[in-house]
Amino acid sequence: PETATLPIRLADYRAPAWRVERVELDFELGIDATEVAAKLLLRRDPAQDEPLRLEGEQLELLSIALDGQPLPATAWRLIEGGLEVDGARDGSVLETRVRVHPAANTALEGLYLSGPRESGFLLTQCEAQGFRHITWFPDRPDVQSTYTVTLRADRARFPVLLAGGNPDGAGELEGGRHWARFVDPHPKPSYLFALVAGRLEKIERDYRTADGRNVQLKIWAEADAIDRCHYAMDALERSMRWDEQAYGRNYDLDVFHVVATHDFNMGAMENKGLNIFNAKCLLADPDSSTDDEYRRVEAVIAHEYFHNWSGNRVTCRDWFQLSLKEGFTVFREQSFSADMNSAPLKRIEDVSLLRRAQFPEDAGPLAHPVRPAEYREINNFYTATVYEKGAELVRMLAGKLGAAGFRRGTDLYFARNDGRAATIEDFLDALGEANGIDLTPYLAWYGQAGTPRLRAHGEYDAARREYALTLSQHTPPGAGQPHKQALPIPVKLALFGADGRLLPLHLDGQTSTGGTEAVVVLDRIEQRYVFRDVATRPVPSLLRGYSAPVILECDYAPDELALLLTHDPDGFNRWEAGQQLAVRACDALRDGTPPQAVAAWCDALAALFDDAGLDADLLADLLTPPGEIELAERESVVDPTRIHMLRQQLLQHLAVRIGIDKLDARYRALAAQSTAALDAASQANRRLKQRVLQLLALLDPARACSHATVQYRHAPSMTDRLGALTVLARHDTARSAEPLAHYRAHYANDPLALDKWFALQAQLPGEGALARVQALEADPAFTLKNPNRARALLGTFASGNPTGFHRVDGAGYRLYAERLLALDALNPQIAARLATAFNGWQRLEPRRREAAHASLTALAAHDKLSRNLAEIVGNMLKS
Ligand code: ARG
Ligand code: ZN
Repeated sequence: PETATLPIRLADYRAPAWRVERVELDFELGIDATEVAAKLLLRRDPAQDEPLRLEGEQLELLSIALDGQPLPATAWRLIEGGLEVDGARDGSVLETRVRVHPAANTALEGLYLSGPRESGFLLTQCEAQGFRHITWFPDRPDVQSTYTVTLRADRARFPVLLAGGNPDGAGELEGGRHWARFVDPHPKPSYLFALVAGRLEKIERDYRTADGRNVQLKIWAEADAIDRCHYAMDALERSMRWDEQAYGRNYDLDVFHVVATHDFNMGAMENKGLNIFNAKCLLADPDSSTDDEYRRVEAVIAHEYFHNWSGNRVTCRDWFQLSLKEGFTVFREQSFSADMNSAPLKRIEDVSLLRRAQFPEDAGPLAHPVRPAEYREINNFYTATVYEKGAELVRMLAGKLGAAGFRRGTDLYFARNDGRAATIEDFLDALGEANGIDLTPYLAWYGQAGTPRLRAHGEYDAARREYALTLSQHTPPGAGQPHKQALPIPVKLALFGADGRLLPLHLDGQTSTGGTEAVVVLDRIEQRYVFRDVATRPVPSLLRGYSAPVILECDYAPDELALLLTHDPDGFNRWEAGQQLAVRACDALRDGTPPQAVAAWCDALAALFDDAGLDADLLADLLTPPGEIELAERESVVDPTRIHMLRQQLLQHLAVRIGIDKLDARYRALAAQSTAALDAASQANRRLKQRVLQLLALLDPARACSHATVQYRHAPSMTDRLGALTVLARHDTARSAEPLAHYRAHYANDPLALDKWFALQAQLPGEGALARVQALEADPAFTLKNPNRARALLGTFASGNPTGFHRVDGAGYRLYAERLLALDALNPQIAARLATAFNGWQRLEPRRREAAHASLTALAAHDKLSRNLAEIVGNMLKS
């Protein structure tokens, strides 16, 4: 059975015995059956004596020939997951013909159909190992080939034919058929192959690269969505310019295609010259997209475009190196988004995501290093650790080298590895060599799982006017690593006087002394730093800008955090002080200890609420305490209902402290300015308005719901509409029925808007959540076959509704496990991804833990689980 698959190990890497220099692919496209003819020019590694082995799955073999001669059945054989061929030599040409079945492909990997069979279109998804579902091939990223692709199809049914590379001819065929050919001059691994065929509309724009190439940018979507592609086109142009300036990277083909589909397992895919996007990450217009979604479209467009260099021109040697392209590209996107929008806000958003998604991963049974040592199913390793923690590692390196040094380093990395399949060592080598620095100590970050704890303890000696800061680190054992080593942890810091002013720093052994900010790198278990000439007992601001992905443990007094929350000019650390203070406040409420922290948090925020000089969006973030998942991460025994209540209590205290009149007045003032405009100020206005309305609802639900009813009716944007609906659904079930029904009818033909309708309701907390989810499953628009829809309802329920999913009676787990099973039969990647919602089950209080364990065990006992789901469930149960 699949469950018995052996893990693949990084340590076992071997260079390919056979490469493919050139590949010609011919597709006879059809919805039910497509025939693929492949012609491979083979190159043999003279140092290895291995038979020719090609990967292939679910392929119907029609013919096979070597060097022009049909191969007798004795000269080839099917092996586990592939094909073995005798008699090949260096320079041999292998020709195969296979048949595949796009419409029956519900896994959405390889060639598949998006949409209904009468009107939908064909497309491919190959990363990581989808190409082997299309043809026989050495399907591994260190085999790079030039591609010539010819598509043939019925013209009426498939008027648009696209593949990666430059167009190289097109024409008519008999019987209403036509053809189109594409040549990609840049050798690429098979995971970057793509084709699209069907009825699509486009928008286009001419672009001239900094190095003088004329490029046609084309964004494709189905007719009803094409008008929602303009924002993505603008974002694409911004991304291309930015990469030219920030990294000196120019685009390298004559065309760049982007295609939107509603049927996609992930966010988007960087196929060479033909990016394919989940419509959710591409389409945007004020009527159906929220502000957050606009920013996400901009970010994902940038991410996929940036892959053209960090991923495509320089690719990965093997899938263990995935973070080489993903961590780096996420970092590049984060820097771009920070430049396009508010930098501190972007940082807050990214760190929140890291804490919400990656910290739990690092702390639970799915923990793995940024560069994993082994896997069974690579699709399970497109994780927050590889992406988000990976980006943090690149950020540390960039911080260490400084802007100019980092650019020198990336220039060398791209120059030296262009056209290669590289490793993380290659990356560190280039960055280090360009700067005469040895960066190998940072390699340890890539190989060690778990979030380091950074302890900070300060002592002030008034007589000597010295402040001694002791930093120490500890990473809890886990992920098969009982003893963790010390890592280099860059700590950016500043000291504040009691009046809230920054103090000049005189640090022993530090060159740039006298400034107000310094970076120290803790590279051993413990280190003491002595600051001289410190006039008063200081309050340290540590890890400024979140300079390392660690958990800071510092014995601040509540009023010290309040001081930072009020005065720290580092927007991120100001927010961070508020987060820490809120956590302390929750602890006080939980333990019934004197609520000093509650008062300190509420007082500081009430003052900031009145501060006209504070940005509306920063204020909105300051008014938001850590989410329930983050709070749960701090507990050794988790009761999700209790955490939910505590957080609500804390918000209640805040609302009371600010006061009903101020909240109401601020809401009205913000509502009076409401427009559909997308500029930063308007977005900030909407964000703050929503926070204020939510706080008001805690004090006076009736009044808040009246506001929300009006806001829903007159909302000029989706952000306002959804915000109003959320407040109504949370605080007045009866009054929310009508607008919910209105929304359902109004957006009946807009899948992305409907997803939001499902997600909003799946998130409503409390006892009734499960019944609500079951009722929503009966909605005719619900289907497990569409990943976005399944994620919107089931994924949101399990990962975004702690009190609903974690019902004490275990009914949430049972329903969810049943759905995972049904999903697994259709789409293993999605089933495995959704199954990670069980992460953290071991720390649940005993009744829930029992129930979750029972559901997981029942799942594991199933004998037909996909390799994807089996690996996740298996790891989840590993003690
Ligand atoms: N490379 C794509 C991106 O980050 C994601 C591909 C995910 N593939 C997968 N099998 N999960 O941009
Ligand atoms: Zn990526």
